[in-house]
Amino acid sequence: MREVVKLVIDGKEVILPVIIGTEGEKGIDIRSLRQETGYITFDPGFGNTGTCRSAITYMDGEKGILRHRGYPIEQLAEHSTFVETAYLLITGQLPTLEELTRTSVYLNDFSPLHENMKAFYQNYPSKAHPMGILSAMINAMRSFYPELLDIEEEMNKTYLRLISKIRTMAAMAYRISLGERVVYPRPDLCYCANFLNMMFDNVVVPYQLDDDLIRALNVFWILHADHEQNCSTTAVRVVGSGKVNIYSTISAGISALWGPLHGGANQAVIQMLEVIHRNGLTINECLLKAKDRTDPFRLMGFGHRVYKTYDPRAKIMKKMGDILLSKLKRTDPLLEIAQRLEEAALKDPYFKEKNLYPNVDFYSGIVLRAMGIPTKMFTVMFAIGRLPGWIAQWKEDVSDPEMKISRPRQIYEGSLERDYIPIDNRA
Ligand code: ACO
Repeated sequence: MREVVKLVIDGKEVILPVIIGTEGEKGIDIRSLRQETGYITFDPGFGNTGTCRSAITYMDGEKGILRHRGYPIEQLAEHSTFVETAYLLITGQLPTLEELTRTSVYLNDFSPLHENMKAFYQNYPSKAHPMGILSAMINAMRSFYPELLDIEEEMNKTYLRLISKIRTMAAMAYRISLGERVVYPRPDLCYCANFLNMMFDNVVVPYQLDDDLIRALNVFWILHADHEQNCSTTAVRVVGSGKVNIYSTISAGISALWGPLHGGANQAVIQMLEVIHRNGLTINECLLKAKDRTDPFRLMGFGHRVYKTYDPRAKIMKKMGDILLSKLKRTDPLLEIAQRLEEAALKDPYFKEKNLYPNVDFYSGIVLRAMGIPTKMFTVMFAIGRLPGWIAQWKEDVSDPEMKISRPRQIYEGSLERDYIPIDNRA
């Protein structure tokens, strides 16, 4: 028998159907609520609201589980590559060797940028944040690559064009911001190696590609590839629901990701650790500030809307930071501060009671620093990783017959009707 819930509103019983997901998650289908009762639900920040059915990512925030298309994040991080994980997210299946090879050929073919796009960059103020540049450039792709045919094969190429070009754009934005020559993509290099080469190759000292760094970058991007209905993915679904083109939709996702409470947290964590290091703050002083409700300071990289235990991505990221630093025979004073901060916060009653654990961003800055990525580029690195997830979620959304344009309701609390007063009569 179909499960339902009964709600009594103004003495009238309303029966609402229950939707059950494959992992047993339950939701009350309230679509008929307003029509039947005149009531709406109130849920700022959507903490209790399901906005779609999805077959892409499964998360259990209490148990610290994250799976893409059923595959645990730990297995993907250990065995997969970023390109393969992107394919999995977008198509729903792991690719065959032939499919993966074809994908790589397209990624190579699409990697150069339209020459006129370079001029676009060069006119940006030199101190512009690369996230602002990236979101504008992705939006501009609609004008540079207008052929958006509604044919599956062509759309698949559009996804790969986006995944390929975002990496070229990011590296180019960095080089131009330094006033350095642009390094073009090389067809002989894989996705991650190509990015590192475009970022760091130099005429005087050619960049030495390192397999461990290439692997670390693959893992970094796999860990960011999708995360269910987070802030930027919701932005993508909401903007996409108006049927705007995919480039503008992804550009909206990039803008949403930029904020320090979301993807911008990786940059904010390093800036916080630098302040602690520079000013010699004690760990106790930081925790006191974070707990003080009158102080806007928060422990960046801690807390999550869904995870009420350790973020499984943070565990992998922390391990990778240790491996990279020991391989490079480098010490990072910020890593030591991060470890002490984590240890103290996990024992602190405030953080324990509120279930505040390190999230993916807590250790990602340490990993990116070890790779030589500048702090300003951290959120761009996140955006490149999240792109396959945004594409997969957009694709699912536009092909779902149940989906409608996003248009929430509100509870109005403003003035009641009143008459207009001409300016001369106003007190
Ligand atoms: N430091 C100190 N206190 C915190 C922190 C923190 N990092 N995070 C949450 N809290 C406290 C809040 O003050 C609040 O306390 P209260 O109950 O006394 O009011 C309580 O914990 C719940 O926090 P909310 O902000 O209501 O939780 P929400 O789910 O809305 O926010 C968020 C989650 C935005 C991630 C929050 O934990 C935060 O600001 N963390 C720091 C920024 C960060 O690391 N963002 C990256 C998240 S992961 C990602 O997007 C990639």
